[in-house]
Amino acid sequence: MPIEPQTPLIDRFGRVHTSLRISVTDRCNIRCFYCMPLENVRFKPRQELLTFEEMTRVVRVAAGLGINKLRLTGGEPLVRSNLSQLIRMLREVPGIQEIALTTNGILLPDQAADLKSSGLDRLNVSLDAISEEMFERITRRQGVQKVFDGIAAAKAAGFGNVRLNAVAIQNLTECEIVPLANFARENDLHLRFIEFMPLDADRAWDKSKVLSGQQLREIISREVAPLRSVNRHDKSQPATDYEYADGKQRVGFINSVTEPFCGACNRLRITAEGQLRNCLFGMEEWDARQVLRNGGTDTELSERFQSCVQAKKPSHGMDSPDFVPPERAMYQIGG
Ligand code: 5AD
Ligand code: SF4
Repeated sequence: MPIEPQTPLIDRFGRVHTSLRISVTDRCNIRCFYCMPLENVRFKPRQELLTFEEMTRVVRVAAGLGINKLRLTGGEPLVRSNLSQLIRMLREVPGIQEIALTTNGILLPDQAADLKSSGLDRLNVSLDAISEEMFERITRRQGVQKVFDGIAAAKAAGFGNVRLNAVAIQNLTECEIVPLANFARENDLHLRFIEFMPLDADRAWDKSKVLSGQQLREIISREVAPLRSVNRHDKSQPATDYEYADGKQRVGFINSVTEPFCGACNRLRITAEGQLRNCLFGMEEWDARQVLRNGGTDTELSERFQSCVQAKKPSHGMDSPDFVPPERAMYQIGG
């Protein structure tokens, strides 16, 4: 039976999908070990990536199916040239209420003002360490000062609610937790810790390398300030937020490994080459680019979205003994 287009994206478990994460490039200007290989990274040739026009068409169709929130990711989205132009195009799509972006921050000093005037609503900056030495061990590049400058540039450009995302790794980044929390509090940034997930190109992930949200929370409440939980307004938000007892900012924990939040997932993804995915850990992709480049109709695009959503599993299944990580690493999917 053909799937009826223009119906909301509801999966077999009743989850309504309203959020689309768009990877705009697989390229990156740093080499975080939990995502990219150090050498011989094989980036996609430019002509394989969706053009801005193609992305905008996908978003127009998705908005007709109830998608109202977009997040641009990569690789590093700011290495895609003229990104502000894409944001301007996406802003024009009826039904899109919010456009956010996740960046490593290095190019923000040059681009923050432009991003703001293009209509970008929110910025998340990924920063796992504030010491140059640890930054370099993780990213295998120098540049922590550029990220600090990027955060300052974002605030100066008028982004009021910049969030920091920090991946925490057992036996490695413990010494960064308290300094990061203090840095976030001093700069009035909402910090969120993300558990290390098996999405690294080097396949070095191991459960023993996961620094859990609970461990992090204990360290912070002991060494920074006591924490009290806050009510979750948006159930689909992956972070569990806490407020510092002194009222100075919040800190969140994205416990994807130890406390999966798949039950409230409202997200779909599209890779830089136009493959739809229903989960970071999914094994299947639905080819939107083929429809776009072979003269396909909007109805056909809608059908790809619907098939993708209908095939979504109840959870990532990381705890199952036969869990296999996806073939693609994080930079090839989009975070
Ligand atoms: N585990 C957890 N988080 C990851 N990210 C990239 N790779 C991983 C991984 N293997 C994070 C980045 C960024 C976001 C897009 O995803 O640090 O904050
Ligand atoms: Fe959603 Fe997949 Fe993430 Fe679970 S693992 S929250 S299903 S994207």
